[in-house]
Amino acid sequence: MPQEIIKGSSIPLKGEFAPPGDKSISHRAVIIGSLTKGGTKVNGFLSCDDTLSSANAMTMLGVPIVISGSNVEIRGKGLHGLSEPENTIDAGNSGTTARLLTGLLSAQGFFATITGDKYLRVRPMERVIKPLTLMGAKIWGRDGGKRLPLAIQGTKLSAISYESPVASAQVKSALLLAGLYAEGETEVIEPAPTRDHTERMLSYLGADVKKNGKSVKITTGPTLKGLEISIPGDISSAAYFIVAALINPRSEILIKNVGINPDRIGGIEILRTMGGFIEIINKREASGEPVADILVRSSALKASEIKGKIIPKAIDELPVIAVAACFSEGETIIKDAMELRVKETDRIKAMTRELKKLGADLEELDDGMIIRGKDNLKGGICSSWGDHRVAMALAVAATRARGDTEIQESDCVSVSFPGFFDVMRRLRG
Ligand code: S3P
Repeated sequence: MPQEIIKGSSIPLKGEFAPPGDKSISHRAVIIGSLTKGGTKVNGFLSCDDTLSSANAMTMLGVPIVISGSNVEIRGKGLHGLSEPENTIDAGNSGTTARLLTGLLSAQGFFATITGDKYLRVRPMERVIKPLTLMGAKIWGRDGGKRLPLAIQGTKLSAISYESPVASAQVKSALLLAGLYAEGETEVIEPAPTRDHTERMLSYLGADVKKNGKSVKITTGPTLKGLEISIPGDISSAAYFIVAALINPRSEILIKNVGINPDRIGGIEILRTMGGFIEIINKREASGEPVADILVRSSALKASEIKGKIIPKAIDELPVIAVAACFSEGETIIKDAMELRVKETDRIKAMTRELKKLGADLEELDDGMIIRGKDNLKGGICSSWGDHRVAMALAVAATRARGDTEIQESDCVSVSFPGFFDVMRRLRG
């Protein structure tokens, strides 16, 4: 079993690095780029297991895609140029691939099947299948249509207005992609704002998308233009090093070229409320997305109550925020985060069980955690539960432990951040 040993004893983090490309935007670049007319060039692409699942899927749908490092060339086929895949599309570990493609494939003129790895096959798919079925989609799935593998017979869809019970960018994006083809105006109303990368990219490429508060509307659109797409670094990957620098005394790091989409910076807002020194500098824009550099210095953190509308804006950062809370003065409460239970693994259970092995004082809530801060943790042996974000959050916790920590099944970091352990070694000197 691949494992990584993290040396404890609070070595300061120093220097600068640029995180790998944003995973959410990279998925969208290959999926939506495939629907453009003409060539789409992408730079800053994150080449990791998850995004390669999306790229392979689009290749199976007949789109020529050439990936060289972080550059991608896509010969877009236009909205109506995809073709029937000869085999089952494998979304691997990627919920974004599975859910966005379910929306897209529902509206095509052919049959397709999608499956995924053992973790993805138990994750909920009903949240996209239900509204797509209301649009007229024909989808069959295991467990009464709730789980992968799915079989999709593409058909003509009609627009709906859908009030989503879950705050999920994947659900919203699946419906917007289906809405690109549906007759009429498709509307998605969210209970709380979620990342709007799909809306931004579709608008950037010329689609007719209207945002108004919690509502987003799309109509069958003009042809999408093949343009250059520049992808910024992933704030969710930056977050591990933001927390590592905050909790390890005498650290100072500069994280360059990070996407600071307002729906993604909840983690930074929370860590600042906890007393973290995090400065956003050199703000600019790239392909419709805000970008900046982030300066972080170690800080004395205090506990916080984390709940409500900020949760979807920090959903992928919550495991590492739980680690920050382990070193904060007082009792941190994370609530309203039940979505963590249906991620790549149950992240509430995984983080609680594994941090306890390192001596942390925390407990599970149905929808979050209660964490009592301490001065130090101790080294130990932890499992990643096969979940990239659990592996990286535990590695950050291990930097402030007394003694070494072994993280088992650590190779899953390649799902979103292939060079994670190398960056950590470099910044710790
Ligand atoms: C993502 C949306 C979020 C997030 C996931 C990526 C996306 O999931 O947790 O890592 O790219 O749209 P949900 O839509 O399930 O909340």
